[in-house]
Amino acid sequence: MNITSATFVRGCTHDTNLIQDNIPQIAFIGRSNVGKSSVINSLVGRKALARSSSTPGFTKEANFFLINENTYIVDLPGYGFAKGSKSDQEKIMRLIQWYVFHPDLEQKKIVLILDAKVGPSPQDVETLRQLEEAGKDIVIVVNKVDKVKQGELNKTLKVIDSVVGGHTVIQYSAEKKIGVDKLREVVFTTVNDIL
Ligand code: GTP
Ligand code: MG
Repeated sequence: MNITSATFVRGCTHDTNLIQDNIPQIAFIGRSNVGKSSVINSLVGRKALARSSSTPGFTKEANFFLINENTYIVDLPGYGFAKGSKSDQEKIMRLIQWYVFHPDLEQKKIVLILDAKVGPSPQDVETLRQLEEAGKDIVIVVNKVDKVKQGELNKTLKVIDSVVGGHTVIQYSAEKKIGVDKLREVVFTTVNDIL
């Protein structure tokens, strides 16, 4: 899978600016600072396509990137940023839910990103269950595997497996480019299947 073009289209926040056309959308969701924007950059092989930051709560809109003129990658804000004000957190949660459960949209896949060091948080599990109930096509990415030793990682993966059941789980590091080919295959094969 060659990435020949990758461009930022726009950040969406309301029905009035939401992108709804026939191009498939793949959404990236997860807790704040888990590395959603970094995973997207590593996936498409562009250093700073999606802006990433060590400050949690960085991404504020549903940011649409058009890849190879045939797929949108959607970078969402993160939930669970403990230091954010309650109203900010609620605003972010509303935006995520608005996009993910929008009645007029059907994402081709939802990539739920978990932290290899933290494991699944209660909010991750709650989000996963909501996505499952809505019948979403889910893939789990365990990011930042470079930060944990193998033994610790194995323990976390066991916990993750017990929580996520049948979904595909990909061990990943945006930093060290681990799992990139696997995720590309999963994300872009889905798109090719339906084209
Ligand atoms: P929000 O937009 O705030 O929700 O964050 P995000 O989930 O988009 O995270 P972002 O990509 O901005 O990354 C957050 C921090 O984690 C940055 O400092 C990244 O450099 C770091 N990071 C992301 N992926 C990895 C990884 O695989 N390994 C390591 N060690 N650090 C990572
Ligand atoms: Mg981000």
